[in-house]
Amino acid sequence: MSSIATPAAGPLVEVKDLTVRFTGRDLDVSVVNGVSFTLERGSSLCILGESGSGKSVTMRALMRLFPPTARLDGTVRVDGIDVLALQENQLRRIRGGLISMIFQEPMTALDPVFTIGQQIAETLVYHEGISYRAANARALQLLELVQVPSAKRRLEAYPHELSGGLRQRGMIALALACKPKLLLADEPTTALDATVQIQILLLLRELQREMGMATIFVTHDLGVACEVADKIAVMYAGKFVESGSVEQVIDNPRHPYTQGLMNSTIHADMRGVALDPIPGAPPDLTDLPPGCPFAPRCAAAREPCLEHMPELVLLPGGQQARCLQYAPGSGFAQAPALKASCAA
Ligand SMILES: Nc1ncnc2c1ncn2[C@@H]1O[C@H](COP(=O)(O)OP(=O)(O)O)[C@@H](O)[C@H]1O
Ligand SMILES: [Mg+2]
Repeated sequence: MSSIATPAAGPLVEVKDLTVRFTGRDLDVSVVNGVSFTLERGSSLCILGESGSGKSVTMRALMRLFPPTARLDGTVRVDGIDVLALQENQLRRIRGGLISMIFQEPMTALDPVFTIGQQIAETLVYHEGISYRAANARALQLLELVQVPSAKRRLEAYPHELSGGLRQRGMIALALACKPKLLLADEPTTALDATVQIQILLLLRELQREMGMATIFVTHDLGVACEVADKIAVMYAGKFVESGSVEQVIDNPRHPYTQGLMNSTIHADMRGVALDPIPGAPPDLTDLPPGCPFAPRCAAAREPCLEHMPELVLLPGGQQARCLQYAPGSGFAQAPALKASCAA
């Protein structure tokens, strides 16, 4: 891979102006529209947003896990490797090696016809070229690492023989098998009940720190984001609309969409406080309005919001928000407010 790799220094992940479009006979829709971010080695980013905002597609772009109808543009570099320039056989080597992914539904990653132990061992043999004997021993250590009780017996189990929580731990063990530098976790706990969710999140955070892995979590749950991340990026209609450290975004959300997410989520200290859902629904990506895509749902919107797509504005402390109210010279401050409307 020498021609496409640069020396592994600097951030582990660099994404610049990423766009992902799906095209087909009756289809042409751009679902990720110019996403840029960097992720330092060993640190953790959480991508937050409602369903359909492009979170999973952004994650898949990091490993180019797409059907042939996808068109990717921009730059994706992971550990100095230009992911968008890789051949299919080179991609297979980085998937599960340098980068691995855990999904909301373990059955998307686990093969129903092989035992958990066989699947972990196969991955190790493929990526690390070790013997089956050594791979089986490592598989047992991995199940113990992810705190599967009676790990030895569970190695022999088929995925359907395990509970949801144990299946998820099995998938995490598989994802960690080759000590990835980047772990992608796409709503890894949403299918589980609340206590198991917390156990798995705490386990992931601990493993991330112990193994020095960088992690990108995707969630629509602010509580999860606070628990696991160093940085948060909030996504809306295929763009990042706010980013910053967890403290910045949680204590002082600047984009009206992030503020709306906060008001519509249960926090630890808000017993008895009524939730205030964001009115309306996310826009149709095939028919985006010309201005800010959140404007039709935004209580703070003013006339210029319907005309101009805001750029990300750098705020004090490094926080960023894509909102005209922070953009000098946008005419926002002088413009009349729009009546908050409900798009749905
Ligand atoms: N393979 C695909 N072909 C066409 N559209 C897709 C494909 N995968 C995802 N999309 C669309 O891209 C948009 C973003 O999806 P996704 O990233 O899965 O959202 P989420 O933020 O819920 O993870 C959705 O409108 C979805 O329907
Ligand atoms: Mg998703």
